Amino acid sequence: MIEIKNLKKYYGDKCVLDDINISIKQGEIYGLIGESGSGKSTLLNCINRIESFEEGSIKINGIEVKDLTFNELRDIRKGIGMIFQGFSLIDRKSVYKNIALPMECWKIDKGIIERRVEELADVVGLKERLMDKPSMLSGGQKQRVAIARALTQNPTILMCDECTSALDPSNTESILKLLKELRENLGITILIVTHEMSIIQALCDRVSIIKDGKIVQTENVDKMFINKSEELKSLLGKKDVEVPTDGITISFSGVNSKENSYIVYEIGEIVKNKYSIIDSSFIDTVSGKVFSYTINIDKEDYNTILEFFDKYKLIYEIISYGGESC
Ligand SMILES: Nc1ncnc2c1ncn2[C@@H]1O[C@H](COP(=O)(O)OP(=O)(O)O)[C@@H](O)[C@H]1O
Ligand SMILES: [Mg+2]
Repeated sequence: MIEIKNLKKYYGDKCVLDDINISIKQGEIYGLIGESGSGKSTLLNCINRIESFEEGSIKINGIEVKDLTFNELRDIRKGIGMIFQGFSLIDRKSVYKNIALPMECWKIDKGIIERRVEELADVVGLKERLMDKPSMLSGGQKQRVAIARALTQNPTILMCDECTSALDPSNTESILKLLKELRENLGITILIVTHEMSIIQALCDRVSIIKDGKIVQTENVDKMFINKSEELKSLLGKKDVEVPTDGITISFSGVNSKENSYIVYEIGEIVKNKYSIIDSSFIDTVSGKVFSYTINIDKEDYNTILEFFDKYKLIYEIISYGGESC
């Protein structure tokens, strides 16, 4: 569906996208996360060819976007809807006119436009607001207008550049719900670019972390949070946990299941309560709740604990052994 191979993009001498390889399947919700300036927007702009690129290949449904004529490019862009942080609505035009705008530009028949606008307003839940001006709407409703407008050409791909960054949590949640519905009901592929980890957790099937123009990790979202890489930790903001100077400190993670729901209780049983919990976190992802614990145990319980982790197939990391960090 979207196949990016060995992509390189320069601004002057500066390489802003460095050997990018990503493959996004049809109907997938794919997240791209990275700090400001890491190259996220530039990558989106290369995919719809607002920007050109120097090396590598981007194929959309098997078509190479690098060397297209003006007309071919127009057709490719029709298949890609874009939404942005700033909504890009025209304030003096009604919701109806804002949604209709691309179709008016394509000189589509008025009757067809009318039907399509009503259909789309229904999809995004704004049927009653068509005659309102954008200034009368909440941020979430404005983004719904932008989404309806992005859907006018029946795109197979929707690209979202920081599309929830200007919204409060409840509006963010409603937009994420809408995006999920679009995937369910229209089978649309969604590529979402954000610097907010919570968006990735709540929405994406797979995610890539981009750093200084390079993809440093690509993973299913639950795996990413179970086995936290250094890159992910730095995006999440490292927590400084005070590690005890005696015993063994271990951190372990897994996806919550029926089998491991009493995990801490069971650990207490096998080490006869000679342990302490130093840190814990729970992250809701699309594939379930991921838990992480850091515990301190006696040295004599080391092997018992490792067998226990293997039994439940938990990922673990020894943080310190008798005061020596590992
Ligand atoms: N038009 C441009 N000309 C020169 N440099 C640019 C331009 N657009 C972006 N950049 C640079 O490219 C890098 C990636 O930018 P961008 O893709 O906007 O990052 P992000 O969306 O992850 O915040 C940054 O270092 C930025 O300064
Ligand atoms: Mg950006």
